[in-house]
Amino acid sequence: MKILITGGAGYIGNTIAFALTDAGHHPVILDEQPFQADETLASFDYYQGDIADKALLTNIIQAHPEILLVIHCAAKIDVAESTLEPELYYKNNFSKSIEMVNHLIDLGVNKLILSGTASLYNSETAYSFDENATPNPTSPYARSKYFLELALNDISKARDFQFFIFRYFNPIGSDKELRTGFRGANKSSLLNSLIQCTSLNNRFQINGTDWDTRDGSTIRDFVDVRDLADAHVLAAEAFGKNTLSVPLNTFGLPIINLGSEQGVTVKEFVSVFISATTSDLVVELAGRRSGDIIGGYASSKLARELLGWTPSTSLETSILNSIRWASKLSPV
Ligand SMILES: NC(=O)c1ccc[n+]([C@@H]2O[C@H](COP(=O)([O-])OP(=O)(O)OC[C@H]3O[C@@H](n4cnc5c(N)ncnc54)[C@H](O)[C@@H]3O)[C@@H](O)[C@H]2O)c1
Repeated sequence: MKILITGGAGYIGNTIAFALTDAGHHPVILDEQPFQADETLASFDYYQGDIADKALLTNIIQAHPEILLVIHCAAKIDVAESTLEPELYYKNNFSKSIEMVNHLIDLGVNKLILSGTASLYNSETAYSFDENATPNPTSPYARSKYFLELALNDISKARDFQFFIFRYFNPIGSDKELRTGFRGANKSSLLNSLIQCTSLNNRFQINGTDWDTRDGSTIRDFVDVRDLADAHVLAAEAFGKNTLSVPLNTFGLPIINLGSEQGVTVKEFVSVFISATTSDLVVELAGRRSGDIIGGYASSKLARELLGWTPSTSLETSILNSIRWASKLSPV
């Protein structure tokens, strides 16, 4: 099956491209980033450009008329940046996506899987989310993604267009063979902070130990990026064969969460990190900081029922793969 992946040079899109190839499919990548340095990318059909470029989309579809569906990963994803430059986020993630969908439908491609974010769930009222959980997107980034969900839903009712949304929290890890992984600089991530503290011999502080979670620390949802990619492969196969019917949630949207089901508390994460890396990191417990939230995790029940998907990579393996990938990118 030929599948167009927008944002296919990015962390998740590129891992999906490898997962599709491993499963015998043919990904075609569209990304505005220049060709990545990693030579393994050379094995893909790669188009550099903007998702809303009609001429480029026409070229791609004319060159690959067998493309059956699109996995839409292209987006700007920096929450802090989105608060400083909201127009950029609404234009890139929302307006350009609508333009792209419009062109693709005209070109005869009428199926799309959207990479959505679980960060739009309302973590002020709950921390365990199924597909019916109430959205409360709190940043321009999350809103740009949520508005796109709503708009695609309207388009699906008006035109010959089918779509559904995967929502997930934090991908972690890398492709298991280290062919691809995270290339950005997410300095604020929990894993990155732990790696920094270990390498600088600093103490690591866990802020907040009185939250309503199993051990009092805040809770997160990490799913291995290759597990996420495998879910996209399963979904693309079923969607392409018309054997997937995603039920509408209580807000009328076709959503499948890709969650770890139980989440991991910060204390648990730190302890897995220490044992996986045999680090002698010193951990201190401290009070909550202002602005901290309890966090949250998503279910994977529907993904299990519809796709037979369940996240299978251990957190320890994901952490070690992240570290191995980072040292492959910048060997010491
Ligand atoms: N990383 C996360 O924590 C996370 C969590 C949930 C959902 N998501 C969603 O998953 C998707 C992929 O995220 P990622 O982590 O791989 O991000 P990423 O930044 O690594 O990849 C995104 C890619 O999209 C490309 N892109 C952006 N705008 C474009 C445009 N107008 N035209 C062409 N290419 C464009 C970028 O060049 C980049 O390569 C996003 O849609 C994001 O909202 C990410």
